[in-house]
Amino acid sequence: MSEASKMIQTGSGEAKTARDGRRWTLRPGRPTDGRALAKLFADVRKEGRWLITAPGAISEPSEAFWISELIRANEHLALVAEADGEVVGNVLVSVDRGVATEHIGVLSITIADGWRDVGIGSEMVAGAQRWARERGLRKVTLGVFPDNARAIAVYEKCGFVREGLRRQQFRSGDTYRDEVLMAWFPHEDEDR
Ligand SMILES: CC(C)(COP(=O)(O)OP(=O)(O)OC[C@H]1O[C@@H](n2cnc3c(N)ncnc32)[C@H](O)[C@@H]1OP(=O)(O)O)[C@@H](O)C(=O)NCCC(=O)NCCS
Repeated sequence: MSEASKMIQTGSGEAKTARDGRRWTLRPGRPTDGRALAKLFADVRKEGRWLITAPGAISEPSEAFWISELIRANEHLALVAEADGEVVGNVLVSVDRGVATEHIGVLSITIADGWRDVGIGSEMVAGAQRWARERGLRKVTLGVFPDNARAIAVYEKCGFVREGLRRQQFRSGDTYRDEVLMAWFPHEDEDR
């Protein structure tokens, strides 16, 4: 059994050291993380730059409930980065339910302001990739704004390739934003 599946099956975490020396733990999400994760997403949405959903578009309690249920269902991946007892990052891979698309997982990732650029996001994407491979997924997809150079750098480093550009896909106030589509194919990437 690999470290990734051992961690998920036992619920245990892996102690990590960030690039700036701070300690953090990579662990599976628990249903009780719902509130902390909803708060993390709400805080990052308030920054107004990175995420599709507008600030305040989803109430924190409903999102907390939805996330807890997603984790409880145990069909998808939720990993959490924890530091000093606080949730500082999350990666989700939700597996598509369509009969023709159940080989696909959709990845989303959020690291709290103050914890970025120290390697946590890259480690979390790598953890999600290990899980996706073991889960037998054929493809992991995601969407990212074209000006999110840091996120794109992390995805490319982890082996994701650009699949296309959906122009004017999202409205943000009076403007429209494009979306870059990216994907990773486990069976074509022996390095990860
Ligand atoms: C995007 C995100 C997940 C990346 O995680 P992270 O922990 O900050 O990333 P890491 O520290 O692992 O790696 C960042 C990499 O991007 C590089 N980078 C940072 N800013 C960059 C920029 N403007 N242009 C190009 N590369 C950049 C860094 O050099 C680093 O690469 P390296 O490891 O080869 O040195 C995180 O910053 C985040 O959650 N941001 C806000 C929410 C968000 O954008 N989510 C993704 C939506 S699609």
